[in-house]
Amino acid sequence: MSIEKNVKRYTITSALPYANGPKHIGHLAGAYIPADVYARYLRLKGEDVVFVCGSDEHGTAIPNQAMKEGTTSQAIIDKYHVLIRDCLYNLGISFDIYHRTSEPIHHQTSQEFFLNLYHKGLMTEETSDQYFDEEAKTFLADRYIIGTCPKCGNPNAYGDQCEKCGSSLSPRELINPRSTLSGKPPVLKPTKHWYLPLQDYEKWLGEWILDSHKNDWKTNVYGQCKSWIDAGLQPRAMTRDLDWGIKVPLPDAEGKVLYVWFDAPIGYISATRALFQELSDHKKTFSTPQRNFGAVKAEDWKKYWSDSETKLVHFVGKDNIVFHCIIFPIMLHASGEFIVPENVPANEFMNLEGDKMSTSRGWSIEMHEYLEDFPNKPDVLRYTMLTNLPETKDSEFTWKDFQAKNNNELVAIFGNFVNRALVLTQKYFDNQVPARDALTSLDEKVIADLKEFPSRIAASIEAYRFREATAHLMDLARLGNKYLAETEPWKLAKTDMNRVATILNIAIQISGNLAVLAEPFLPYTAQKLRDMLNLSRLTWQQTGSADLLSNGHSLNEPSLLYEKIEDGVIETQIKKLNDKKNQMELASQPATPLKPEIVFDDFSKIDIRIGTVIAAEKMPKSDKLLKLTVDSGLDKRTILSGIAKHYSPEDILGKQVTFIANLAPRKMMGMESQGMILMAEDKDGKLRLLQPNETVAPGSTVS
Ligand code: 2FM
Ligand code: ZN
Repeated sequence: MSIEKNVKRYTITSALPYANGPKHIGHLAGAYIPADVYARYLRLKGEDVVFVCGSDEHGTAIPNQAMKEGTTSQAIIDKYHVLIRDCLYNLGISFDIYHRTSEPIHHQTSQEFFLNLYHKGLMTEETSDQYFDEEAKTFLADRYIIGTCPKCGNPNAYGDQCEKCGSSLSPRELINPRSTLSGKPPVLKPTKHWYLPLQDYEKWLGEWILDSHKNDWKTNVYGQCKSWIDAGLQPRAMTRDLDWGIKVPLPDAEGKVLYVWFDAPIGYISATRALFQELSDHKKTFSTPQRNFGAVKAEDWKKYWSDSETKLVHFVGKDNIVFHCIIFPIMLHASGEFIVPENVPANEFMNLEGDKMSTSRGWSIEMHEYLEDFPNKPDVLRYTMLTNLPETKDSEFTWKDFQAKNNNELVAIFGNFVNRALVLTQKYFDNQVPARDALTSLDEKVIADLKEFPSRIAASIEAYRFREATAHLMDLARLGNKYLAETEPWKLAKTDMNRVATILNIAIQISGNLAVLAEPFLPYTAQKLRDMLNLSRLTWQQTGSADLLSNGHSLNEPSLLYEKIEDGVIETQIKKLNDKKNQMELASQPATPLKPEIVFDDFSKIDIRIGTVIAAEKMPKSDKLLKLTVDSGLDKRTILSGIAKHYSPEDILGKQVTFIANLAPRKMMGMESQGMILMAEDKDGKLRLLQPNETVAPGSTVS
């Protein structure tokens, strides 16, 4: 049974993204947009909210990326922390702070957390055999070991997972394991680690989740937790042998760092701590406080993590459920100092155009790519995602849907309604809100309907049904649109200005309500609309009223809230997506293996020259060969080249080519070829001419 507690304040967290690369828009569907709607809504209600996030800068993901980019781990986190942070803020995600786990205050908080558990005797020490790279002289994290997957035979499976068949693995299961650092087979060596005995908390978890949250947690979340608990929990190592991370604060722990999933969620606590430090110092480095916190003390952060009247809510994607519902809550509970989450309304995944979104496979829209192409449309993305959130099952983003949501809903309903209300008020009443005259039954009905919206939207948000909440919001714009379509004030202007005044007053009141109620969902739109209505910030409690804007209130110049997106824009995006995937596929294919070594003399025997193609035709009866006449600088010679599938005679005529001039003549299809044209062969088998980057004299040698 769940007991509704008395809530005085809210701590809202969004999963800390790994600062190991750009993040795609799929991430927004789980951890960021729903959290932002929730936080903004609560702030509008005047609740005491902190909303925290930051970069997850530890774990093997960071040094792995550094290796790929040929740089340092520090350079990687510095680059991607800024990129991800700026994208999230530009998409309107209203964190009070976007912190970093590389900050000293986080290292300190994590080490204190670890030591607290350690000194209470809640950690166990175990020595076990782990893979060690003798050449690199280091223990190997799971991701640094590759080998053949025992389930599907993929020769490049990782020590923790096979990306081909999706099986989760442990390094010892790999066949023929090898180190990614040296390429050599690793050896097993004993090493000591500190474990959290998760199994000791099964009873507590059973009561806390299975009994207390059966009805208020989402079924997908509850179901995952139940199967973990039912399967029985195991001790989990909270330390790793790695040189990137937070040092284990014990004397006998040389070369050991905290497990990234130990320190990352503590990042929420350190971020809150840093926020209150900055608020009390009146300094801003990481924080962007979204409300006036008033005079605070640095230690006030504790209320947001320790007071039982604080409601803690973690927003994450489904891959993070176990960490936020089982492991981190056990850590919080075991510490004896912290509250546990009230809810973890995790979403499923959002796919893209029929396939799983994946940055590494190139099948993704990265947040920064979206913002570069649609810099003034953060709300259009928010709206498309919100109406499509994978709340109960995986969902799908398509560019066509994005266009339809923009053109048919934001432009045609929301934008159109507001624009008509404002333009007509400007036209007939000189931009002043006209007073209502006698109300018809339709007016009364619309005013009564309007009153219902705030509580309807609020109920959906509070139940974490953000899709439904967004639909209710659009229904309010629909109500306004329908009202104008039915009353047609533009037709009444000649005959009944009192009636026009009444209708436009009501339309403006609906617009005013939209300006407030849209804020959690479409913050940029809400701001623009408030500016047009010349409306100061109102609270959620003030909405539902048909008297938000008083008679005679001056409005500002109206402008369009949204613009139509044309087919061409969408086609460009679809092409861009396919091109990116193809490029990634090519890049990920292994290069042709190296031929055996040759000595310089072997090379110098080959006479490579540049020539110009002065005639070209298809070789009769062959679909592969072109017959070229090449001005070689020495002579005009015939060269037969197998490039007919890649170049037409017209394509190649007049081009400079690189060819082997002293290759013994060869007969092909009854004709003699006097040389060989050199081509670059792409991984997909496409042939491309090799040409000097500026024209040179025919006969020029290549060395
Ligand atoms: O899955 C991820 O991207 C992790 N970096 C999420 C961490 S959430 C929290 F624990 F910090
Ligand atoms: Zn496999």
